Amino acid sequence: MQGQQTLKHILRVDEVPTLPEVIHRILAISGDPAASMRQLTEVVSQDLALTANVIRLVNSAYFGFSRPIHNIHQAGVLLGFQSIRSLSLGTSVIQQFSGPKGVDERSFWRHSLAVATVATGLCERGHHSALPVAFLSGLLTDLGVLLLALHNPEVAQEVYSTQDGEPVLLRERAAFGIDHATLGAELADHWHLGSTLTAGIGGHHLLPDEGLENQPELARILYLSEYLVAETHPLDGAPLAEPNAHQVAISLGWQEAQIEEVMANCARPLEQVDAFITVGASAS
Ligand SMILES: [Fe+2]
Ligand SMILES: [Fe+2]
Repeated sequence: MQGQQTLKHILRVDEVPTLPEVIHRILAISGDPAASMRQLTEVVSQDLALTANVIRLVNSAYFGFSRPIHNIHQAGVLLGFQSIRSLSLGTSVIQQFSGPKGVDERSFWRHSLAVATVATGLCERGHHSALPVAFLSGLLTDLGVLLLALHNPEVAQEVYSTQDGEPVLLRERAAFGIDHATLGAELADHWHLGSTLTAGIGGHHLLPDEGLENQPELARILYLSEYLVAETHPLDGAPLAEPNAHQVAISLGWQEAQIEEVMANCARPLEQVDAFITVGASAS
């Protein structure tokens, strides 16, 4: 209830944005270990606009198939469950929230998709239980930044362009009375996305006095993912330094060589992030 009031205040409208129903259905399938590719592609195929956009992406140069892909089932066979889930969630979320003011839309989604990709890679390799929600949580992790920017573009611009060494969360709290991690978690809660995802988003930045060991696993995975993409996929205008990344990696049981392996496996999907921006995000 409190979260809903804060969201309404931030947005100054009666209704907070809705999340497309297809996202809930994809999440439900993701959390079911017995779910098949057929079930996933059937859910996606019921949303014609989403299907068209996924097919457009799959046929883009980034995937490099020699022959055109005509339907979602064919795409599923060629790309696999994980990729179809990522493409579908990415396309749905980006289109729902396009057009932010005060942050650069391209760099925002490029960054969010990269965090989602690496968080998924870490969960897969580390057998972390958050795998079914890893991609969506990465995608939504900084949604609070976008909402703050929608609420007040001028203030957001000032908050995110200031580089005085103060953690961005503290600057957000001073300017808006709330930070983007808390706001994102409130929105996830409002959408009933589940406690794992909500707590993960809410704890994805750590302040020096906020104990690392108290953060849920998904929050630490998102934190580490932020750190790993900070150079290649930065969130322009909102530098989010992650000084405790080494400590976080150790707390998750990760060694450097394993993280390097995950990043090597993520290289191709990270290249495909640009396909979303050039192909997917421009479709409507
Ligand atoms: Fe971020
Ligand atoms: Fe963030």
